Amino acid sequence: MTQDHPPNTPKNGTGPYRGYRNLPPLVGLQSMAEATSTGLTVAESVSRILRLHWSLKKLHRIFVARITAMPVYELKMAFSLHSHYCAEHVEEFAKRVREMRQPPYGLEVSPDAALDTFFDEILAAPDIEPLVLGLYGYAVPALVRALERFIADTNKLFDHPTWRVCRLTLVEMHDVLEYGEAAVKALIDEKTKAGLRDWTSLLERLLGAAGDLDGSQPRTEGDLTPIYSAQPYKYDPVPKRDERFHDLYNMGVNAEAFLLDPDIPSVPKTVMLYFKRMREIDVPEMMSSILSETRGKPWEYYRAMTRQLWDEARHAMMGEIGFVSMGIDWTKIPLNFTWSLGLNTLLTPLERHAVLYTIEQGLMPKKTGKEYEWEVALATANRLTELIQDYDWADEVLHARIGRDWLVPELGGQKEAMAFGDHAWSHVLGDWNKWREGGITEHHNWWPEVYRDACQYWGTEPDPKLLAYDTTYETTRPDMKQIAG
Ligand SMILES: [Fe+2]
Ligand SMILES: [Fe+2]
Repeated sequence: MTQDHPPNTPKNGTGPYRGYRNLPPLVGLQSMAEATSTGLTVAESVSRILRLHWSLKKLHRIFVARITAMPVYELKMAFSLHSHYCAEHVEEFAKRVREMRQPPYGLEVSPDAALDTFFDEILAAPDIEPLVLGLYGYAVPALVRALERFIADTNKLFDHPTWRVCRLTLVEMHDVLEYGEAAVKALIDEKTKAGLRDWTSLLERLLGAAGDLDGSQPRTEGDLTPIYSAQPYKYDPVPKRDERFHDLYNMGVNAEAFLLDPDIPSVPKTVMLYFKRMREIDVPEMMSSILSETRGKPWEYYRAMTRQLWDEARHAMMGEIGFVSMGIDWTKIPLNFTWSLGLNTLLTPLERHAVLYTIEQGLMPKKTGKEYEWEVALATANRLTELIQDYDWADEVLHARIGRDWLVPELGGQKEAMAFGDHAWSHVLGDWNKWREGGITEHHNWWPEVYRDACQYWGTEPDPKLLAYDTTYETTRPDMKQIAG
C-alpha cells in the first residue's frame, strides 16, 4: 500500500480515488473517504440548527439588553458588535430550517429548558464580572464548540448549505471569542473567578444537562437550581457610564450651533464633529431599550435595528478615533447621557423610535444635515475627518430606510411619524435649568480648554473670538429648533 493511499480511501481502478487528470474530486470540498463516512441525518442536522438558532437569539438578547446599564464604554461597543453578529446569523439558520422542513418549524419553541436557564442566568448576572465571564467564558465557547462539531460531523456535500452557514458564523464567533478571552483576562482576576465558582459550576451543570449547547453530548445530572435568574430578569433602562465619564447632564456646549455658523472656519469645527460622533454612545444605550422592550416583531425588525445599533456604536468610536488622532484626552469632555436617559425613562419604545427617526430625517437636508457635515470635513483637508463623516453620512441613508420600513407604516405615514417623533422629543427636553438649579450640573463650558488642546495639535494660536464661544442647549435643541419655555 502506498502512502497516498490510506486504507480507508476508496479507489477508482487500482490506485487511490482521483478526479479527471488529477482534478480534486467532489469539487475539493472533502476527500472521498470523508464523504463516504461522515454525515448527520436531516433530523439530526435540524435539531442542531434549532439549538444554534435559539442560542444565537438568546445571546443577542443578552448583548443588547446589557448595553444600557453596564457602564464600561469598551464593552458597550463590543456588545453592540457581538449582538449584530448574532442577529445576522439567527436569520441564516432559520432560513436553513425552512428549506428542509415543512411548518411548524419549531423556531419559536425552546429546544431545551436547561439551555434556557443557562442563558437566563447570564442575562441576569448582577455585575460586570459574572456577565463577562458568563458570556465570554461559557456561552460563546459553547457556541464555538457547537459550530466546530457541526462542521466536523455533517456531510459537507449532502448538507452543504448548513455547513456553509456554520463555517461563516464560526469566522465571526472566533473573533467574538478572541475579544472575549481578552476581556475576561483584563477584567477578572483569579480571586474574582474563585468567588464566582459556585455560579460557574451551575453554568457547567446546565450545559451538561443539555448535552452541551448542540445537544450532541451525553446528558449529565446535577442540581440545576437557578441562582441569578431565580427572580426573572428586568431590563434596566437607566444608562450608566464608567468612571472616565463625568458631568453626564452637561449640555453647556451647543455643537450644532457652532458647526452651522458660517463665520466660523472649518478646522476648529473638527472638534465639534468628533464630539458629536463620540456623544453617539447614547444611541446604542437608547436602541437597546427599544429592542429589549419591543416584542413580537418579525426577526427582520430586530436584525435591522441591531445593525443600526452597531452603526451608532461605530459612530461613537469614530469620534474616539478622531480625538485620539489629535492627542486630545476625550475624558475631559462631558459626553452627556441626557438623551438616552430621557428617552428610555420617559417615552414608550414606539415614541423612542419615532424620536430617532425624526432626528435622522432631520439629517437629510443638504444644507444642515450629514452632507453639510461632510462638506465641513472636506474643507478641513483632513483625510481622517473626511472618512469619518463620509461613512457617517452613508450609514444615515440606511437608517432612514430602516425607519421608513418599520416605523412609518406603523404610524400611518411619513408626516404622522415625523409629527409623533417631534412631539415625543419635546417631552424629554426643557430640563436644562432644572438640572442646574438642582445641582446636577453647572453646564460647564468645556470648549475653551479642548479648543486650546486642539490648537496645540494644529500648531496654531487660539482665536480669541472662538475661545469665547458660549452657546448652550438651554433654548436650542440639537436640530436647532427652539425649546418651548
Ligand atoms: Fe449615528
Ligand atoms: Fe443613525
